Amino acid sequence: MTPALQSHASLALCQLAPVIPVLVIDDLAHAVPLAEALVAGGLPVLEVTLRTDCALDAIRAMSAVKGARVGAGTVLSAFDAARAKAAGATFAVSPGATPALVAACSKEELPLLPGAATATEVMTLLELGYRTMKFFPAGPAGGPAMLKALNGPLPQATFCPTGGVSPSNATDYLSLPNVACVGGSWVAPAKMMEAGEWDGITALAREAALLPR
Ligand code: 3PG
Repeated sequence: MTPALQSHASLALCQLAPVIPVLVIDDLAHAVPLAEALVAGGLPVLEVTLRTDCALDAIRAMSAVKGARVGAGTVLSAFDAARAKAAGATFAVSPGATPALVAACSKEELPLLPGAATATEVMTLLELGYRTMKFFPAGPAGGPAMLKALNGPLPQATFCPTGGVSPSNATDYLSLPNVACVGGSWVAPAKMMEAGEWDGITALAREAALLPR
Protein backbone atom coordinates (compact mmCIF):
# COMPACT_ATOMS: atom_id res chain seq x y z
CA MET A 1 0.00 0.00 0.00
CA THR A 2 1.70 3.17 -1.15
CA PRO A 3 2.06 6.16 1.19
CA ALA A 4 -0.38 8.03 -1.07
CA LEU A 5 -3.04 5.36 -0.56
CA GLN A 6 -2.26 5.22 3.16
CA SER A 7 -2.77 8.98 3.37
CA HIS A 8 -6.03 8.72 1.48
CA ALA A 9 -7.28 6.17 4.02
CA SER A 10 -6.02 8.24 6.97
CA LEU A 11 -7.75 11.35 5.69
CA ALA A 12 -11.04 9.47 5.36
CA LEU A 13 -10.70 8.36 8.99
CA CYS A 14 -9.84 11.90 10.12
CA GLN A 15 -12.97 13.16 8.43
CA LEU A 16 -15.28 10.83 10.36
CA ALA A 17 -15.24 12.90 13.56
CA PRO A 18 -13.54 16.05 14.86
CA VAL A 19 -11.64 14.16 17.56
CA ILE A 20 -9.64 10.91 17.59
CA PRO A 21 -9.43 9.73 21.20
CA VAL A 22 -5.90 8.80 22.20
CA LEU A 23 -6.32 5.87 24.58
CA VAL A 24 -3.97 4.43 27.18
CA ILE A 25 -5.60 1.21 28.36
CA ASP A 26 -4.11 -0.39 31.47
CA ASP A 27 -6.89 -2.87 32.15
CA LEU A 28 -8.14 -5.11 29.35
CA ALA A 29 -11.57 -5.19 31.00
CA HIS A 30 -11.92 -1.50 30.11
CA ALA A 31 -11.38 -1.99 26.39
CA VAL A 32 -14.86 -2.95 25.18
CA PRO A 33 -16.94 -0.67 27.45
CA LEU A 34 -14.61 2.19 26.58
CA ALA A 35 -14.99 1.64 22.85
CA GLU A 36 -18.75 1.30 23.21
CA ALA A 37 -18.92 4.53 25.25
CA LEU A 38 -16.89 6.52 22.74
CA VAL A 39 -18.73 5.18 19.68
CA ALA A 40 -22.06 5.90 21.41
CA GLY A 41 -20.91 9.49 21.89
CA GLY A 42 -20.09 9.88 18.22
CA LEU A 43 -16.35 9.19 18.14
CA PRO A 44 -15.83 6.03 16.04
CA VAL A 45 -12.10 6.36 15.30
CA LEU A 46 -10.05 5.15 18.26
CA GLU A 47 -6.27 5.21 18.71
CA VAL A 48 -5.02 2.67 21.23
CA THR A 49 -1.46 3.48 22.21
CA LEU A 50 0.98 0.57 22.31
CA ARG A 51 2.26 1.75 25.66
CA THR A 52 0.63 -0.80 27.89
CA ASP A 53 0.92 -4.57 28.19
CA CYS A 54 -2.68 -5.18 27.18
CA ALA A 55 -2.77 -2.72 24.25
CA LEU A 56 -2.73 -5.37 21.51
CA ASP A 57 -5.41 -7.46 23.24
CA ALA A 58 -7.41 -4.24 23.70
CA ILE A 59 -7.20 -3.54 19.95
CA ARG A 60 -8.35 -7.09 19.27
CA ALA A 61 -11.32 -6.77 21.64
CA MET A 62 -12.33 -3.27 20.59
CA SER A 63 -12.26 -4.16 16.90
CA ALA A 64 -15.38 -6.27 17.51
CA VAL A 65 -17.34 -3.26 18.78
CA LYS A 66 -19.90 -2.23 16.19
CA GLY A 67 -19.00 1.02 14.48
CA ALA A 68 -15.51 1.26 16.00
CA ARG A 69 -12.52 1.93 13.73
CA VAL A 70 -9.59 0.88 15.88
CA GLY A 71 -5.99 1.79 15.21
CA ALA A 72 -2.70 1.58 17.06
CA GLY A 73 -0.84 4.57 18.41
CA THR A 74 2.80 4.98 19.46
CA VAL A 75 3.78 2.69 16.58
CA LEU A 76 7.53 3.18 16.51
CA SER A 77 9.02 0.29 14.53
CA ALA A 78 8.42 -2.33 11.88
CA PHE A 79 7.80 -4.80 14.70
CA ASP A 80 5.09 -2.53 16.15
CA ALA A 81 3.45 -2.18 12.73
CA ALA A 82 3.39 -5.96 12.23
CA ARG A 83 1.96 -6.74 15.66
CA ALA A 84 -0.59 -3.92 15.39
CA LYS A 85 -1.79 -5.26 12.05
CA ALA A 86 -1.92 -8.82 13.41
CA ALA A 87 -4.08 -7.60 16.31
CA GLY A 88 -6.58 -6.10 13.87
CA ALA A 89 -5.54 -2.45 13.84
CA THR A 90 -6.92 -0.68 10.77
CA PHE A 91 -4.49 2.22 10.97
CA ALA A 92 -1.30 3.25 12.77
CA VAL A 93 -0.22 6.52 14.31
CA SER A 94 3.38 7.47 15.08
CA PRO A 95 4.90 10.50 16.79
CA GLY A 96 7.40 10.85 13.94
CA ALA A 97 8.42 8.76 10.96
CA THR A 98 11.38 6.59 10.00
CA PRO A 99 12.20 4.81 6.72
CA ALA A 100 11.80 1.43 8.44
CA LEU A 101 8.36 2.32 9.77
CA VAL A 102 7.19 3.68 6.43
CA ALA A 103 8.41 0.52 4.65
CA ALA A 104 6.72 -1.71 7.21
CA CYS A 105 3.36 0.06 6.95
CA SER A 106 3.52 -0.17 3.17
CA LYS A 107 4.31 -3.89 3.38
CA GLU A 108 1.64 -4.57 6.02
CA GLU A 109 -0.99 -2.55 4.12
CA LEU A 110 -1.49 -0.52 7.29
CA PRO A 111 -2.40 3.14 6.72
CA LEU A 112 0.05 5.25 8.68
CA LEU A 113 -0.64 8.68 10.09
CA PRO A 114 2.98 9.77 10.51
CA GLY A 115 4.04 12.54 12.84
CA ALA A 116 5.72 15.79 11.80
CA ALA A 117 6.53 18.97 13.69
CA THR A 118 8.68 21.07 11.34
CA ALA A 119 8.61 22.26 7.73
CA THR A 120 11.41 19.86 6.82
CA GLU A 121 9.58 16.91 8.36
CA VAL A 122 6.40 17.86 6.51
CA MET A 123 8.36 18.21 3.25
CA THR A 124 10.03 14.83 3.80
CA LEU A 125 6.66 13.13 4.30
CA LEU A 126 5.17 14.91 1.27
CA GLU A 127 8.12 13.70 -0.79
CA LEU A 128 7.34 10.12 0.28
CA GLY A 129 3.70 10.55 -0.72
CA TYR A 130 2.06 11.29 2.63
CA ARG A 131 -0.32 14.24 2.61
CA THR A 132 -2.12 13.49 5.88
CA MET A 133 -0.01 13.78 9.01
CA LYS A 134 -0.15 14.00 12.76
CA PHE A 135 1.19 17.33 14.03
CA PHE A 136 3.02 16.32 17.20
CA PRO A 137 3.51 17.52 19.88
CA ALA A 138 0.98 20.11 18.80
CA GLY A 139 1.17 22.50 21.74
CA PRO A 140 4.94 22.55 22.32
CA ALA A 141 5.61 22.54 18.54
CA GLY A 142 3.83 25.86 18.08
CA GLY A 143 0.11 25.18 18.29
CA PRO A 144 -2.40 26.72 15.87
CA ALA A 145 0.01 29.55 14.96
CA MET A 146 2.56 27.03 13.66
CA LEU A 147 -0.05 25.17 11.61
CA LYS A 148 -1.28 28.46 10.17
CA ALA A 149 2.27 29.33 9.19
CA LEU A 150 2.88 25.90 7.61
CA ASN A 151 -0.28 26.27 5.52
CA GLY A 152 1.31 29.14 3.58
CA PRO A 153 4.06 27.24 1.79
CA LEU A 154 2.70 23.71 2.35
CA PRO A 155 -1.08 23.81 1.81
CA GLN A 156 -1.10 20.28 0.40
CA ALA A 157 -0.46 18.85 3.87
CA THR A 158 -3.42 18.14 6.16
CA PHE A 159 -2.96 17.57 9.87
CA CYS A 160 -4.33 15.87 12.93
CA PRO A 161 -2.76 17.94 15.73
CA THR A 162 -2.19 15.89 18.88
CA GLY A 163 -0.48 16.61 22.19
CA GLY A 164 -1.82 19.32 24.43
CA VAL A 165 -5.16 19.61 22.63
CA SER A 166 -8.12 20.14 24.97
CA PRO A 167 -11.73 21.34 24.83
CA SER A 168 -10.48 24.86 25.48
CA ASN A 169 -8.22 25.03 22.40
CA ALA A 170 -9.62 22.36 20.06
CA THR A 171 -11.64 24.84 18.01
CA ASP A 172 -8.53 26.99 17.47
CA TYR A 173 -7.08 24.00 15.63
CA LEU A 174 -10.29 22.75 13.99
CA SER A 175 -11.00 26.13 12.41
CA LEU A 176 -7.76 25.98 10.38
CA PRO A 177 -8.00 24.95 6.71
CA ASN A 178 -5.19 22.40 7.05
CA VAL A 179 -6.65 20.59 10.07
CA ALA A 180 -8.94 17.59 9.45
CA CYS A 181 -9.40 16.60 13.09
CA VAL A 182 -7.54 16.65 16.39
CA GLY A 183 -6.29 13.87 18.65
CA GLY A 184 -6.56 13.94 22.41
CA SER A 185 -6.72 11.92 25.57
CA TRP A 186 -9.17 14.17 27.40
CA VAL A 187 -12.23 12.15 26.33
CA ALA A 188 -11.02 9.07 28.22
CA PRO A 189 -9.59 10.14 31.58
CA ALA A 190 -7.89 7.33 33.53
CA LYS A 191 -9.93 8.09 36.65
CA MET A 192 -13.26 7.77 34.82
CA MET A 193 -12.14 4.47 33.29
CA GLU A 194 -11.08 3.13 36.68
CA ALA A 195 -14.43 4.16 38.15
CA GLY A 196 -16.35 2.64 35.24
CA GLU A 197 -17.98 5.96 34.43
CA TRP A 198 -18.83 4.95 30.89
CA ASP A 199 -21.84 7.27 30.64
CA GLY A 200 -19.60 10.15 31.66
CA ILE A 201 -17.15 9.19 28.91
CA THR A 202 -20.01 9.07 26.41
CA ALA A 203 -20.97 12.59 27.51
CA LEU A 204 -17.37 13.79 26.97
CA ALA A 205 -17.34 12.12 23.55
CA ARG A 206 -20.65 13.72 22.62
CA GLU A 207 -19.29 17.19 23.43
CA ALA A 208 -16.15 16.45 21.41
CA ALA A 209 -18.15 15.09 18.47
CA LEU A 210 -20.09 18.35 18.30
CA LEU A 211 -17.00 20.56 18.06
CA PRO A 212 -17.33 22.68 14.93
CA ARG A 213 -14.78 22.37 12.15
C1 3PG B 1 0.01 11.48 23.77
O1 3PG B 1 1.18 11.78 23.67
O2 3PG B 1 -0.42 10.68 24.60
C2 3PG B 1 -0.93 12.08 22.82
O3 3PG B 1 -0.29 12.97 21.99
C3 3PG B 1 -2.09 12.69 23.53
O4 3PG B 1 -1.70 13.86 24.17
P1 3PG B 1 -2.69 14.58 25.19
O5 3PG B 1 -2.72 13.73 26.44
O6 3PG B 1 -2.07 15.93 25.44
O7 3PG B 1 -4.06 14.67 24.56
